[in-house]
Amino acid sequence: MRYRAPRGTRDILPEESWKWEKVQRAFEDTARRFGYRDIRLPVFEQTELFARGIGDATDIVRKEMYTFADRKGRSLTLRPEGTAGTVRAYIEHNMGESARVTKLRYFCPMFRYERPQAGRYRQFWQWGLEAIGSMSPSVDAEIIHFCVSLFTNLGIEGSVAKLNSAGCKSCTPAYNEALREHLAPRLDEFCPDCSERYERNPRRMFDCKNESCLALLADAPSILDSLCDECRQHFESVLEYLDRMSVPYEVDKGLARGLDYYTRTIFEVHYPGLGAQSALCGGGRYDDLVEELGGKPTPAVGVSAGVERLMLAYESESGGTGQEPGPEIYIVSMGERAEREAAGLAAGLRADRSVELDHQGRSMKAQMREAGRLGARVAIIVGEDELERGAVSVKDMETGDQVEVELDRLNEAVEEKLAK
Ligand code: HAM
Repeated sequence: MRYRAPRGTRDILPEESWKWEKVQRAFEDTARRFGYRDIRLPVFEQTELFARGIGDATDIVRKEMYTFADRKGRSLTLRPEGTAGTVRAYIEHNMGESARVTKLRYFCPMFRYERPQAGRYRQFWQWGLEAIGSMSPSVDAEIIHFCVSLFTNLGIEGSVAKLNSAGCKSCTPAYNEALREHLAPRLDEFCPDCSERYERNPRRMFDCKNESCLALLADAPSILDSLCDECRQHFESVLEYLDRMSVPYEVDKGLARGLDYYTRTIFEVHYPGLGAQSALCGGGRYDDLVEELGGKPTPAVGVSAGVERLMLAYESESGGTGQEPGPEIYIVSMGERAEREAAGLAAGLRADRSVELDHQGRSMKAQMREAGRLGARVAIIVGEDELERGAVSVKDMETGDQVEVELDRLNEAVEEKLAK
């Protein structure tokens, strides 16, 4: 029996994971610059949290959750997204008491039982930002600016931010009615799922994955024409902030999000090169969610991005080039005494340098080849004869220059070469 990773999951091996580390570091540095602090949430939560938070008419809750009973029969679910858990933690720890606006970030795996395809997995990674406590359209714009600047910093050019509004409690009932009225005459041409969505929440029909249903929705009325004054003003204000920040965007009247908690601004950033799964990230405002989950009424806005998709875009922009960083120093040794000396030198140098050495008793030549293959910048050669004189050789792997150095001058000589 050979075991394989479950369908829809994948191993991220070292040849690839060094690039993930780079992207994660870029995310964390940028998020820190924007004032977002790290939060680490449980991988599973009570099922009810997601059913209420994301909405029980959504595809995520109806079809895609990994739900199980624990040994005491409690229903738990592997998190399909990070917003509900973040809001649960925000309420549970009274985070609103210590800050006017609580700005949080996360970088972790999510789980959805979807049909796997390029850029779509059952376990996938997301980075996300949640800003809880402000009504201001400036925060919506800040978050969109964050996404665009992170993608640009990663060299991902040509991504497009698309914006729409989801309205609020006071303007959506009229819109739902307008939508039902428009769709009623051709309702029998929609799939059975859409017929059900029509009854429960007609806006969920925009999530349908059937091309024929989407075509029928093409000339559906836009919510932008039904917004109340406050929602319209908010939307216009977000656009003004984006203009002021020089963030390029498109207003997309057809944009709908697959989660029920959204109010007002919704947005996605797409990278057209990714084909069907082109959304690098998606987010928006969720002004009712904190209250819905048991907290005080508190406005909020956030975004999450799919890291696998980001990696695909990143690789296609960089042409898959770049080399995994190797050790700075490789210590080559021959003979028992030299091996022991090499181990001692490595132990000292590893205080602040990356050092690799041979553990298989291979020949000097093979060790030198390995040093080259790994991309070491400096090789230290420990030979028995030199040791007799209290010395080793230091070789600059780029130029090939090699000098003999007394052991007590080794650090200095290595630092000199690495500083170049
Ligand atoms: P979402 O649109 O469901 O939003 O997911 C955000 C991003 O996660 C998508 O744009 C996509 O890049 C990635 N993603 C989603 N499903 C998969 C999958 N099966 N495989 C690979 N990548 C995937 C949310 O999750 C919201 N929590 C975003 C948010 C945060 N809204 C407010 N705050």
